[in-house]
Amino acid sequence: MRKYHIHTFGCQMNEHDSEIIGGILEQRGFGATDSVDDADIIIFNTCCVRENPERKVYGRVADLKRLKLKNPDLIIGISGCMAQQPGETERIAKRLPHVDLVFGTMNIHELPELLDQVEAGHKSYRVWEGDLENDGSFMEGLPMRRVPGVSAWVSIIYGCNNFCSYCIVPYVRGRERSRKFEDVVAEVKGLGKEGFREVVLLGQNVNAYGRDLKDGRDFADLLHALDKTSGIYRIRYMTSHPRDFTDKLIHEIASSETVCEHFHLPLQAGSNRVLARMNRGYTLEYYLDLVHRIRQAVPGCSITTDLIVGFPGEDDRDFDETLRAVEEVRFDSAFTFVYSPRRGTAAASMPNQVSDSVKSERIQKLVNLQNTITEEINRNLKGEVVEVLVEGMSKTNPDMLSGRTRTNKLVVFPHHPTARKGDPVKVKIIETRAWTQLGEVVSV
Ligand code: SAH
Ligand code: SF4
Ligand code: F3S
Repeated sequence: MRKYHIHTFGCQMNEHDSEIIGGILEQRGFGATDSVDDADIIIFNTCCVRENPERKVYGRVADLKRLKLKNPDLIIGISGCMAQQPGETERIAKRLPHVDLVFGTMNIHELPELLDQVEAGHKSYRVWEGDLENDGSFMEGLPMRRVPGVSAWVSIIYGCNNFCSYCIVPYVRGRERSRKFEDVVAEVKGLGKEGFREVVLLGQNVNAYGRDLKDGRDFADLLHALDKTSGIYRIRYMTSHPRDFTDKLIHEIASSETVCEHFHLPLQAGSNRVLARMNRGYTLEYYLDLVHRIRQAVPGCSITTDLIVGFPGEDDRDFDETLRAVEEVRFDSAFTFVYSPRRGTAAASMPNQVSDSVKSERIQKLVNLQNTITEEINRNLKGEVVEVLVEGMSKTNPDMLSGRTRTNKLVVFPHHPTARKGDPVKVKIIETRAWTQLGEVVSV
């Protein structure tokens, strides 16, 4: 049997696209392999949100030349967001001439046709050209090879209309297209029947869900409809934009049984001047008030965030305001990024780009502060009994099981005769650390 290997970079949306690419390849008779060495087709599903992942792709694919020399029939493909960037196919053709196949984020459904061309001995490069408007319906009904386990990804909206000035995503994922309400509900029902216990609803801006459908139903209505799905214990979603987080949504989450008490709300920066130049559409005061309303409605919830340091024009005072905001909100954890200029975005041509040395000084300070806060918050968990959904054996220690709390904290604990994969169990936290909490099962 011919084998395929997919290497995925970037966010969950890309991971989920890789499940579709895998499904299409399996339908064609390929079987999965973990190793590039015995693969007949290798696909890099790429990310371009920052420069680093891009550089890695060019490096890794260049390395594959040695395999291609050994096996001229090997098919090497590049897909995903990096491939979809304007001018990227030309760059790939020039710098990585041994690549046979390139397809963009909105061409996944054309993969069978593209593979026909490659197998007939031609190179096949196809990305979405022209305007990035389309209805997204071509993504319906594609085969899918889901990573087996407890949790499943479900797309609810593709694309992004926000054009935050630093961000490449709207240029490579196109305009917002919501999947039909009934299609999402049916998919989640099916997942409950298949034995999945958690779904993660995916979109660059999930709380824009429904705007383009014009049937009057929004993200809160979708959560409401999914709350009654049999077999599904937990619903998560990624990512929500603070600007679009309505009181209706807060109250839906507060009253829902399955939607988890975890809010990932990317703040990006604490300075209103920077937020305005980022085109985020809110002020720090708005954000703090939102956090306050959420904490009142959902006591005990966790709040996490994304932060960028070194945005063009960010001065010491602006950065200080990010630190103050972090102290004020006390996030459970944060993904922290150094600003990376992206070709074609508004911020890339803004004046006063921040030097690398200042950026690294700032990120270090921010990471140190957040780590201290994360550890302090987690320390308070000691002695608490929390619900953990058992995901399986711990990745780092086969003697332990691991799972997450509803607030999305990772917990490891010794095996227990009645704690099986997919079960929600009560675990008492006995030792806390920055990233993993240690516990023991108290009841099943
Ligand atoms: N749609 C999501 C985020 C997608 S990208 C949202 O709006 O929340 C994930 C994170 O990468 C962003 O939240 C941002 O913090 C970071 N990011 C995006 N573009 C970046 C850039 N050019 N440089 C550094 N970080 C960036
Ligand atoms: Fe990028 Fe902003 Fe859209 Fe998120 S909301 S994907 S940061 S443009
Ligand atoms: Fe990267 Fe594309 Fe996701 S740019 S972060 S893989 S949407």
